[in-house]
Amino acid sequence: MVVKTDIAEWIRREHRSIRELSDALLGEVRLIPRFNRDGWLDALRHRFSRFRVHLQNHFEAEEDGGFLEPVVECRPTLSPEVEHLRREHSEMSRWLDQILDELRSVGPDDELLLEDACHRIERLLSALKHHEDHENLLVTFVFSQDMGEKD
Ligand SMILES: [Fe+2]
Ligand SMILES: [Fe+2]
Repeated sequence: MVVKTDIAEWIRREHRSIRELSDALLGEVRLIPRFNRDGWLDALRHRFSRFRVHLQNHFEAEEDGGFLEPVVECRPTLSPEVEHLRREHSEMSRWLDQILDELRSVGPDDELLLEDACHRIERLLSALKHHEDHENLLVTFVFSQDMGEKD
């Protein structure tokens, strides 16, 4: 049996580490060097690629019994909310793939394209924050209910 407090603690830990990775990535995309971008672009590709894997594993863990299923088990009326989160996982996962492709195809002198890729990363991080805030609210709501109570 899944213990609610374990899930709440797990999701808090996961989201904390995603927050740290997001902040580090944001720091890089907000400071595009004016010249000599080779090293910066290599570092960004590397960081983004690791971030993508981390995030896709996180989505998979949330779907694979980590969080979403127990929420529906406890609160079946929250199924639409959970489905919405699942759809966002799928879209963000495709978004991550697209941005990585873009980062691999641009060169250090492609100023406008680099700016565009960085703006897309910022928009993705903003959507991700919204998504994670939504999950935190859901966890707080479900886990603040009486343990024996069900929909
Ligand atoms: Fe999620
Ligand atoms: Fe999450």
